[in-house]
Amino acid sequence: MEVVILADPAAVGSHTAELVARRAAETPDMVLGIATGSSPLGTYRELARLHAQGDVTFDGVRCFALDEYVGLPERHPASYALVVERELTTPLGLDPANVRTPDGSAADIQQACLDYEHALAASGGVDLQILGIGTNGHIGFNEPTSSLASRTRVKALSQQTRMDNARFFAKGEDVPTHCITQGLGTIMEAREIVLVAQGEAKAAAVAAAIEGPVSSMCPASLLQFHPRTRIVLDEAAASGLTLADYHRFVAEAKHHFPGGTR
Ligand code: GLP
Repeated sequence: MEVVILADPAAVGSHTAELVARRAAETPDMVLGIATGSSPLGTYRELARLHAQGDVTFDGVRCFALDEYVGLPERHPASYALVVERELTTPLGLDPANVRTPDGSAADIQQACLDYEHALAASGGVDLQILGIGTNGHIGFNEPTSSLASRTRVKALSQQTRMDNARFFAKGEDVPTHCITQGLGTIMEAREIVLVAQGEAKAAAVAAAIEGPVSSMCPASLLQFHPRTRIVLDEAAASGLTLADYHRFVAEAKHHFPGGTR
């Protein structure tokens, strides 16, 4: 696990955007796994800036979102389908036909979950997955006690998550109670993962994910088993790490080894 600690949220956004842009240049038809929530917005806005400058193209990039609320009215502004359209598809010039979110309004919601797994498999799998982390350690919407082997499924949201996400809705009670989320087993199949976190509110979850035991009580801790994961943090999100100085040393010393260290 590579842990990169940067000064502030702006640095997290540009570092992560550079990584995504590099991968898109290496593999123009890559499959990019996208997270919603506020954590990756700095990254997406920096990617939009690079795209507007003509520095990077996403013409052939295929995207899969991690999750979606169940039961929101079509084109609700907080639906992840709309967030993805607003923050990614339009500003990055993605082909809408190449961008998928789980169908949270499907008549047969269980079938929609299976269809999403099939679509992911048919794409050849995710090359680079972008993740945020919830204050309770969730990734996607895999709440604490999620099966570490779970696949895309319907999941009940925790009270903590509903409170955290109330800011995106007019009233707290408007936050849906359920979602479709890629499972932890699904996410772990991505060939490369980058998780971004900013702010002190994430410090405890980040520390549990990186330094705690692997446990379904902190779903992000499963990433300790992933061979190619980078965690990009600002100082505030890194403030709960006991080994922060080690990670800074690793980052400084890394150029001594071609290909870096992990
Ligand atoms: C959200 C999403 C996650 C996101 C996490 C953190 O509800 N389902 O994909 O990473 O919770 O959210 P935020 O980045 O807004 O803090």
